[in-house]
Amino acid sequence: MSATSPTNGSDVNAGQAPAFAEAMTARLRQAITDAGGWLPFDRYMSLALYEPGLGYYANSLRKFGTMPRQGSDFVTAPELSPLFGRALARQVAQALQVSGTDTVIEFGAGSGALAEQLIETLDALGTPVARYQIVDLSGTLRERQAERLRRFAPRVQWLDRWPEEIHGVLVANELLDAMPVQLLLWTGADWLARGVEMEATGSLRFSDRATAARPPTPPEADVGFVPGTVTEVHAQAEAFVRTLADHLKRGAAFFIDYGFPESEYYHPQRTGGTLMCHHLHQADPDPLDRPGQKDITTHVNFTGIALAGQEAGMTVLGYTSQANFLINCGLVDLLQEADLVQRTMAHRLIAEHEMGELFKVIGFVPGEEFDAIGFSVGDRSYTL
Ligand SMILES: C[S@@+](CC[C@H](N)C(=O)[O-])C[C@H]1O[C@@H](n2cnc3c(N)ncnc32)[C@H](O)[C@@H]1O
Repeated sequence: MSATSPTNGSDVNAGQAPAFAEAMTARLRQAITDAGGWLPFDRYMSLALYEPGLGYYANSLRKFGTMPRQGSDFVTAPELSPLFGRALARQVAQALQVSGTDTVIEFGAGSGALAEQLIETLDALGTPVARYQIVDLSGTLRERQAERLRRFAPRVQWLDRWPEEIHGVLVANELLDAMPVQLLLWTGADWLARGVEMEATGSLRFSDRATAARPPTPPEADVGFVPGTVTEVHAQAEAFVRTLADHLKRGAAFFIDYGFPESEYYHPQRTGGTLMCHHLHQADPDPLDRPGQKDITTHVNFTGIALAGQEAGMTVLGYTSQANFLINCGLVDLLQEADLVQRTMAHRLIAEHEMGELFKVIGFVPGEEFDAIGFSVGDRSYTL
């Protein structure tokens, strides 16, 4: 197999994954050499996830699903249960009605599962969308989405860039956690930027350099960071939200992801940060091992996301746990109509020890707030 060979969007055999890792590592070595011997971690993560044909999200390996035996690496909420999208659709329908818009735009649509759930449910609720627009960095995932959503053509459209103006409702599930981050190391005296360099043998290793970057916290002494702490800062995710504010003229935006407020994120006991890799449903903390074959992800600092949106002119509509949000959107009624298997899967969306508490939902509006149903009980904006 050529690791760069294009596919028709179907998954390739997981047994072929090492070929991607090998080709990706060679590409990273070249990038390190071209950069003069050292790549900042955000650049490394960007290549390892999105380098065309090779990066984890850009290659044709299967990624999403519930079964490691079928080659999937992790499961997301819309893959776990269609009730996720059916509940979210109630919030989307309300936001469309309140704003008088008829377009949904999804960033990072993965396999297209959430798009399918939202379009079907919005049709059934009597609030059909005129356009369902998808923006995804990954060409192979776009092909997969197109196959899955063919029956909704021509309403489903793929965009290569931000539309000049958004009049509609933006949704993004597990998008922000997939954006490259900078890694910072606290020595006890200074912050250093963690990057990647190459040993004489060609192996990749971390190496740290002076930086002006800082975590968005009070002075280190006040936080009590322990020397040796490694943490992340999320310039790209926050820039994304500022860009959203420039484009969102009417409607709302909802981001669902794992993470917490700043005070929890940069808690002195969190000495290892939140960076994690996923392969065949196993988590490991080493992003330098088998790049291209594993997902690399970090938690979201929702305080940073909220501030970026607010500073750019949007209003935070609400912030709560995924469990609260889905229950507010009627998940309990949906569960009652579901069979036992569906109920068991959907329960994982709201169970505290699964996705219910770690995952959060944050909503933004460009103009006047409305009483969004998803945040009607248990809004935690005050914790941000
Ligand atoms: C963790 S996956 C989540 C997929 C899907 N939303 C789900 O829940 O199953 C992250 C997705 O975000 C996409 N992505 C990452 N950064 C992006 C960006 N700046 N613009 C659009 N898509 C992006 C990736 O290609 C991938 O499809």
